Amino acid sequence: MEPITVKDFEKLASEKIDRNAWDYYSSGANDEITLRGNCSAFEKIFLKYRVLVDVSKRDLSTEILGNKISMPLIIAPTAFHKMAHHDGEVATVKAAGRSDTIMILSTLSNSSIEEVASAAAGPVWFQLYVFKDREVTKDLIKRAENAGVNALVLTVDAPLLGQRENDIRNKFDLPPGLEVKNLVNASKENLIAGKDSGLAAYVKENLDASLNWKDIDWIRSVTGLPLILKGISCKEDALLAVSHGSDGIVVSNHGGRQLDTCRATIDVLPEVADAVQGKTEILLDGGIRRGTDILKALALGAKAVLTGRPVLWGLSFNGEDGVVQILNILRNELDLAMALCGCRDLSVINKDLIVKN
Ligand code: GLV
Repeated sequence: MEPITVKDFEKLASEKIDRNAWDYYSSGANDEITLRGNCSAFEKIFLKYRVLVDVSKRDLSTEILGNKISMPLIIAPTAFHKMAHHDGEVATVKAAGRSDTIMILSTLSNSSIEEVASAAAGPVWFQLYVFKDREVTKDLIKRAENAGVNALVLTVDAPLLGQRENDIRNKFDLPPGLEVKNLVNASKENLIAGKDSGLAAYVKENLDASLNWKDIDWIRSVTGLPLILKGISCKEDALLAVSHGSDGIVVSNHGGRQLDTCRATIDVLPEVADAVQGKTEILLDGGIRRGTDILKALALGAKAVLTGRPVLWGLSFNGEDGVVQILNILRNELDLAMALCGCRDLSVINKDLIVKN
């Protein structure tokens, strides 16, 4: 079967990726209510379209934090790309470059910041986890800066790892030969093998659960890179992010992998957009599977969206080319949805497109 939709890629990936890795990529927390909710919430939002608009020429390009990109879709940070394909994050960043968009590289990658940045043809942002050992954290930030990374994306919704039950059953660990490449210098390159979930144990042992708003100021004091907070899920935190000077926020619940039964991101977005009033850039991730999902997020106030799991599905199917295919599917679907709604470019997309049942 030649895959033509994101869901086709999901099926192919589920047949190809081994069980330990598939469960890790696909799991949500606990009963996976939020995981499913992120997708199903889009189905409850309907589009109101306009006709007889000249849409013969369309432009999907945009600019985020000074990065000009070809479409409002960027690659979300996800961990351990070499479990999907031996070329790992280097293949993903090359695909981002070919697609003229941004890749956000995870702290927990199998390829190092330097390897990824040197293979990049476009902007790379670095997703940061804060380690209890602040020197380790500072070192990561400095390496990101030296490698030419364009922004930091701080994950704020993971003081501890959510309970992904398949990972507990599988005693999730990295396959032999793979390591957390960015942490080799700090001797934190291995997950904690033999534990319920090796990653949950790693996070508990190494990441700083005391991370709080004061630490945003600390990060600001050690780097001049633009700072985006990922994992904002209500207007109160969005406003705090603004008052702490964040350059952007990602409305995210970590792909349903952290707190189960929290709201779908697309349901949170309107209150955040309303509160923030343009004072920081708003991005969104969670459940994007169709071009119409992207259009809905833009209409409700996001500047762009991130896609995570679909990129891993494309990567497992066909490496760099598979990721390009996934990004093209979503780009083409967005382009068609815009045409059918009477939108020539992103500037005309707004709440008038949305009807909620
Ligand atoms: C890592 O960030 C994960 O969600 O597994």
